[in-house]
Amino acid sequence: MKPVHLIIIIVLILIEYIAATSIIFTTLGRSRYAFDIFSLPINTTGPELQLTDANSVNFNGHFVSVNSNGQFHLLYVTERNGSSSIFLDVVSYPSLDHRPTKRSILETESTQSQSFFDTGSTRLQSIYETESTRSQRRLIGGGDGRISMKDRPSLVGDFLIYVSTHEETGVSRTSWAAVYSTQLSTGLTQRLTPPGVADFSPAVSPSGLWTAVASSGENGWGGEVEELSTDIYVFLTRNGSNRVKVVEHGGWPSWADDSTIYFHRRGDDGWWSIYVAIVPENMLFSVDSVVTRRVTPPGLHSFTPAASVTNKNIIAVATRRPDSDYRHIELFDIGSGKFKYLTRLVAPNAHHYNPFISPDSSRVGYHRCRGAGNNGKMIKNDLFLENIRTEKPDISLFRVDGSFPSFSPDGSRIAYVWLPGIYVINSDGSGRRVIDPDVSAFSTVWDPKRKGMIYTSIGPTFASEDTSVDIYSIDVDVDEPRFTKLTIGGQNNAFPSVSPDGKWIVFRSGRTGHKNLYIMNAIGEKGGLTQLTEGPWSDTMCSWSPDGDWIAFVSDRHNPGSGSFALYLIHPNGTGLRHLIHSGSGGRVNHPGFSPDGNHLVFTSDYAGVSAEPISNPHHYQPYGDIFTMKLDGSELTRLTHNSYEDGTPAWGPKFLTPENVKWSGNEEKCSFEDPYWLAIANRLDDAKIQCGG
Ligand SMILES: *[C@@H]1O[C@H](CO)[C@@H](O)[C@H](O)[C@H]1NC(C)=O
Ligand SMILES: *[C@@H]1O[C@H](CO)[C@@H](O)[C@H](O)[C@H]1NC(C)=O
Ligand SMILES: *[C@@H]1O[C@H](CO)[C@@H](O)[C@H](O)[C@H]1NC(C)=O
Ligand SMILES: *[C@@H]1O[C@H](CO)[C@@H](O)[C@H](O)[C@H]1NC(C)=O
Repeated sequence: MKPVHLIIIIVLILIEYIAATSIIFTTLGRSRYAFDIFSLPINTTGPELQLTDANSVNFNGHFVSVNSNGQFHLLYVTERNGSSSIFLDVVSYPSLDHRPTKRSILETESTQSQSFFDTGSTRLQSIYETESTRSQRRLIGGGDGRISMKDRPSLVGDFLIYVSTHEETGVSRTSWAAVYSTQLSTGLTQRLTPPGVADFSPAVSPSGLWTAVASSGENGWGGEVEELSTDIYVFLTRNGSNRVKVVEHGGWPSWADDSTIYFHRRGDDGWWSIYVAIVPENMLFSVDSVVTRRVTPPGLHSFTPAASVTNKNIIAVATRRPDSDYRHIELFDIGSGKFKYLTRLVAPNAHHYNPFISPDSSRVGYHRCRGAGNNGKMIKNDLFLENIRTEKPDISLFRVDGSFPSFSPDGSRIAYVWLPGIYVINSDGSGRRVIDPDVSAFSTVWDPKRKGMIYTSIGPTFASEDTSVDIYSIDVDVDEPRFTKLTIGGQNNAFPSVSPDGKWIVFRSGRTGHKNLYIMNAIGEKGGLTQLTEGPWSDTMCSWSPDGDWIAFVSDRHNPGSGSFALYLIHPNGTGLRHLIHSGSGGRVNHPGFSPDGNHLVFTSDYAGVSAEPISNPHHYQPYGDIFTMKLDGSELTRLTHNSYEDGTPAWGPKFLTPENVKWSGNEEKCSFEDPYWLAIANRLDDAKIQCGG
């Protein structure tokens, strides 16, 4: 190789290295999930088994088979290695038929049950047996081809049927979730969902001939975050043809036989319940002729049904009952109309999700946090930064176990809040400093010039214009971190961002009765203040560009008070207002931040809709949130995250952190996430009272 070539290569490597950067963001609750798939026997009082291997999060399982020697063939989704993939594990518990020897009783609280159809009030124990063998096979995802969310797998012969988000719709605010079939022997993949349509929660019929989905149909996604307005469609698993609508208004289909589909919907009385639809096996009918019937009673929420193909009398469901704060898996006897507790007898204080029944009807599977319970014995989260794969080799992307993270100017440190509490830590997970454990701070940003100086807003989030919120600077490197209040009025002054010369701070304030942008002297508004934007709407979440020429912010000026936000740019002198992106009528673009070279913005948006039925997940206020980047001229919109969670508050730093998980010695606890608030029955009863009382 000639020296000149070597120099060119070195220069190219340097350019690549210099350009390489890191993005950090928050996913509500996700750092605490620690999901594994567990299983309980249906008819006996045998042990609860943990079927997956406690690596990352494992969820939405499906039994391919369970044999009497205690061997399980289990399909599931996993997020190990920084992206979503589908695994098939064959795991053996040979001592299953004898009583296991190794026991650890996790929860022994006895529970009164209302109605049992066989085992009465026998108390079950959660027992970890040691598996004798496990073979593990990654079937799809996890770095093959495009990064995407994978979900709800099932297997028909050699064909894996699943949801994936790898195809961009090209239309804002539409979901990328669609059903695909991949032949495992050849790797050939076929899309089964028609173009322009989103399909969720696929279920294959017992014969394999038909697949049922919850589909947004031609109407698309209307912004729903509780119940999606989906209908149930059925099509030929083989090639997606003969697609027909079988049920208006329903989700999460599950087949008992090739003409019986269970599903859930929220009824007119407000209760989520299981319904059944009887369809002709040849699927030649019109939707009006399909008979549907409500199966589970009001008075509790029943949802995410799993039918059994060998025992037509039972379905497994998740419930939320008035007498429990937790989501549990129960059996429901179709004939007698009685429920039987399953998980409540084992781990009463844990949320359990998305049941599935083995083909021989001997066992039910579900996922829950592998710690004992949401407020039982906890396990520690040892990951501060979880590396998330992207298709961009020059960006390393991380989920932070904390909110509103921001990089120090050289990228070596991260500030974050924990609502309440404010913290600073080295980017390698070392040296965590508690700046204040109790302060209700939100948003963090570093001063580009003064070392160790950060800015935050202190007060309630999502509050009205006259709420007391003020901007503070905090010197985090002195022995006693010094808080200095920079704004005076206390009228919702928030989201500070500092000019690159360190002289000015842009922020939003509600002081005129509307949230608009202001620029103050970095020593405080007493040192000088000008109003940057003005109007009867909300301008907020501002960020100053590294070259000083632009301020990015979001605004609802197109429809004040609607909750819909678009992304704008403006010069600090108030000229050059430019609309950059809006995800559509009612859409949301939030929390913009500049790339270190100033050419791109990172933000969170509902541009790609929701990716799964929200009821199948823990609580997310905005389950559509994904992280995107875009050039300042509005081109090159790129989706970085693919999941059904709320990803938000991204920040872009100048240092390329090695794309690997970063551990810490923080003592944050896993298993402390929430179930959807809208399933809490007390709230529902309150709503009912409000309605009745006018
Ligand atoms: C996935 O991560 C594990 C460690 O959790 C590692 O052993 C394995 O090699 C990784 N696999 C791939 C395909 O990167
Ligand atoms: C789909 O499969 C069915 C059943 O094998 C077949 O009759 C039909 O022609 C196929 N349709 C297409 C579009 O390939
Ligand atoms: C479980 O019990 C039901 C009756 O409650 C029975 O119909 C079914 O066959 C039993 N299943 C197994 C796998 O033993
Ligand atoms: C406003 O600022 C921009 C860049 O910051 C500059 O290009 C422009 O000339 C300025 N306009 C006025 C009227 O000062």
